Amino acid sequence: MKVKVLRQQSPASEPYWETFDYDGPAENTVAGVLDYLNYHDDMVNAAGGRTARIGWECSCLQGVCGACAMVVNGTPALACETFLKELRGGELTIRPLRKFPVVHDLVVDRSSIQENLKQTDVYVGEYKPGADADHAHQYLAAKCLKCGLCLEVCPNYSDGKRFFGAAFANDCYLVSARNREKAKEIRKAYGAHFAAGCSKSLSCAEVCPMKIPTLASMAKLNRRTKPVVGGDTK
Ligand code: FES
Repeated sequence: MKVKVLRQQSPASEPYWETFDYDGPAENTVAGVLDYLNYHDDMVNAAGGRTARIGWECSCLQGVCGACAMVVNGTPALACETFLKELRGGELTIRPLRKFPVVHDLVVDRSSIQENLKQTDVYVGEYKPGADADHAHQYLAAKCLKCGLCLEVCPNYSDGKRFFGAAFANDCYLVSARNREKAKEIRKAYGAHFAAGCSKSLSCAEVCPMKIPTLASMAKLNRRTKPVVGGDTK
């Protein structure tokens, strides 16, 4: 199988495609393919040229850390959860997420997700189970990996500077459910950084590896906090 990888040596350098021949197990995941290609010290590309190992991130290899989010054959996905047998065609193309700055090859800087939560003080903090009937939904919402796949497919999210996307909305719901004193503050941030910019495409819910029902989070949050659409962030 031919494997095409969009590579980039540093944040400032130009990206380029490099093709590899993969002759490993057919039952591998995309993460397994990257591991297989990177295995040898004398790594070569499909043209026989010596090349450097492909940069990519992983931690758990079982779909719970979110580090391996990338674009596989045009579809944003977790590399460790995407099996070759699920892919169509005889070629595999892998590129980094497009909504975040590239650090190296398939490694991107997703710190803006955390920075936006920090900036608006939307932070769950210590886990304190709530007494309300939303407890089951809170458990689902708390599964967010902050992998960035929802932001990759979102038609409204670009650089995360104004519209913060579904990951943010989900945490707004969680924090408001677990800390009622923060409801006013969250109403302001949610209105300005999510409600004002969301066009309800719901592509975020489709791609979410944890199957978080984002629409339900939004509805519950709207009911609880009555967000101010277009509200001031200052
Ligand atoms: S390596 Fe953790 S989700 Fe893929």
